[in-house]
Amino acid sequence: MHRHLRLGVNIDHVATIRNARGGSHPDPVRAAGLAAKAGADGITAHLREDRRHISDEDIDRLMAEIRLPLNLEMAATPEMVAIAIRHRPHAACIVPERREERTTEGGLDVVRGQQTLAPMVARLTAAGIRVSLFIEPELTQLTAAVAIGAPVVELHTGAYCDATGPARDRELTRLAAAAVQAHAMGLECHAGHGLGYDTVSAVAAIPTIVELNIGHFLIGEAIFDGLEHAIARMQALMGRASS
Ligand code: PXP
Repeated sequence: MHRHLRLGVNIDHVATIRNARGGSHPDPVRAAGLAAKAGADGITAHLREDRRHISDEDIDRLMAEIRLPLNLEMAATPEMVAIAIRHRPHAACIVPERREERTTEGGLDVVRGQQTLAPMVARLTAAGIRVSLFIEPELTQLTAAVAIGAPVVELHTGAYCDATGPARDRELTRLAAAAVQAHAMGLECHAGHGLGYDTVSAVAAIPTIVELNIGHFLIGEAIFDGLEHAIARMQALMGRASS
């Protein structure tokens, strides 16, 4: 059976390059417009607490100027919940955040954070936002996600992408098992982090995953091939692996 595996394009690192010089070029919202033209299914942007790449104004403009659904990545803080509720993006993906990290390292610990996360999931959901939790592919995390009422999980593919040899196979098996369990538990299952042309197909072939969020590789590849081509090539790989 054919399924359409959605691609969310994460534009954070267009803003990273812009911010390196403090001006307005390159504009991540323009990149989002190009991604839409290239056939992306959604735009993902992480408004970090330290605003190191995406800014509040970027979020204002993404909501106003881009037709594609916005997936707002955010830390589990009252400030971010208030911002999400003010903007009402299509989706909010709650991620762990530490200031010193280079990127989102490791998934959210939903098991330990249930008490704090549950009311946030409820408030975002009540505002009409589809909430996902970015977690490691582990049964305990899936169970906790269900317990606090999250409709969606995004499985962290970083360990799979970083591994080599037999360790990579083991990580893929873990991802596939978690994706099957998530589906059986009634969760919508997404995946992302670190994916590129070499790693996307095996993840896209997992039948219960319905969306991939990809950023760093696509923005990097855009330097050589243009953003639209890079997105089209990624989608072709995803389409081939998932049909
Ligand atoms: N999904 C989540 C939840 C993320 O935090 C990130 C990184 O911001 C991504 C996907 C995309 O990862 P990458 O930029 O490595 O493709």
